Amino acid sequence: MHKTLFAAACAAALAGCAGTSPSGGGSDAAVRAKAVDVMKASFKERGIAKLDRLIQDETQALCSQYATTAPPKDVAARIEKANMALIKPPADGQYLGDWKRGEQVAQRGTGFQYSDTEKTPVGGNCYACHQLSKQEISYGTIGPSLYNFGKLRGFTPEMQKYAWGKVYNAHAYAACSNMPRFGAQGILSEQQLKDVVALLMDPKSPVNQ
Ligand code: HEC
Repeated sequence: MHKTLFAAACAAALAGCAGTSPSGGGSDAAVRAKAVDVMKASFKERGIAKLDRLIQDETQALCSQYATTAPPKDVAARIEKANMALIKPPADGQYLGDWKRGEQVAQRGTGFQYSDTEKTPVGGNCYACHQLSKQEISYGTIGPSLYNFGKLRGFTPEMQKYAWGKVYNAHAYAACSNMPRFGAQGILSEQQLKDVVALLMDPKSPVNQ
């Protein structure tokens, strides 16, 4: 989540910098460096939230660079390839865990915030961006509705693999996705990833009712 928020903050800062920079002053790279300096000066460490969060990896840096336009095709292909290589299948080859636990992971928004500790249970906060069930009335719409995901896509091994990969590292399929890289960034454990994949792909899960 924090990477996404950071990208948004960076885009806003860049727009601000670009708008106010005197004509002829500063290359794109210089403006970006200045934006990072502004953020470094204004963010404070608090609890478990350290300033290393301002350091962008290559994927995030490229996506910040193209925050207001889609990245060029070759850049997008490069990002997707690099992120695809980071997806690790589950050690035992079983993609589906327990959808009931997956539902808890999807509902939970805590973890990695300054007000959390290292012991706070970490969630996927899926409902903040996706509809997943018919019952839930309070869900976000940044991402597409996932209601009936398995039913519509088919309960096939290929679709289980895709759901795993997508949740593990969304950037492997959509270069500058706004979805957190739950597996690749160590946000969710292997068991939690299996549980949310079961939430999407188990025919008995509320997602498919
Ligand atoms: C910050 C918002 C955000 C959060 C949190 C989030 N997603 Fe997403 N998700 C998106 C967006 C945006 C897309 C569409 C763009 C893309 O494909 O990456 C997406 C796409 C997906 C897709 C692909 C849908 C398709 O039609 O192929 C799946 C599956 C998915 N999300 C599952 C999840 C699960 C499970 C969680 C929780 C563990 C989650 N997402 C959390 C934003 C989010």
